[in-house]
Amino acid sequence: MVFDILRATTSMITALANGAQAIIPVAEIPEAVALRLKSPGVLLAGERNGVRIRADLTGSIEFDLGNSPRDFTAEKVQGKTIVMTTTNGTRALRACAGARMILVSAFLNLRATTNWIRENQPPHLILVCSGTLDEPALEDVLAAGAVCEKIWSIYAGGHVSDSAEIARRIYPLLQFNLAEAIKHSRNGRRLLANPELRDDVYLCVQRETASFIATLLPSGVVRRLG
Ligand code: MLT
Repeated sequence: MVFDILRATTSMITALANGAQAIIPVAEIPEAVALRLKSPGVLLAGERNGVRIRADLTGSIEFDLGNSPRDFTAEKVQGKTIVMTTTNGTRALRACAGARMILVSAFLNLRATTNWIRENQPPHLILVCSGTLDEPALEDVLAAGAVCEKIWSIYAGGHVSDSAEIARRIYPLLQFNLAEAIKHSRNGRRLLANPELRDDVYLCVQRETASFIATLLPSGVVRRLG
């Protein structure tokens, strides 16, 4: 299960909720541009330093969308395949290739995701917090803690890492005001300091607005299930 609450996986769930057909996460800008040249109908989305990727970074075309969940409106994404590259989230997803099942998760679809885990009880579960470059990110740890709280009874008898225990113990302390908690995180501060991006923070901590799970398939494509 992969989280990048601010903002990649939140944007993916929003895009799928608004009718996007599929999302192809890629690590690097040239991979995204190559896919666009091969399939001119795809949309390009993503960021570097938080902002939409412009022609100076691609050497040619501008990306259609940034990495703000507010960019992924039904008008823009309905029926579309979106190739997406972000600093951390899409790389974390790609790094999980090879896992038996990869769930793409955000606060928006947390209940659907944890319901799926409770019903299917995968024997090994790894909660991947994308973080920021080489550092953990508070918002991802909080999402992991929320998941841990809901599924703890299933896994507590087995090998549980201390990082899961830490996440589970932090979440109850901050759960009642996630937006306030995230104001103190590195990503939260960065987004809130930018008048064009600050509203994303409030959107990314909304809960249970999407009732489906999303998976990264072996083909490298993220689709919604249900
Ligand atoms: C990422 O994938 O690094 C993030 O989603 C960055 C961002 O907030 O745009």
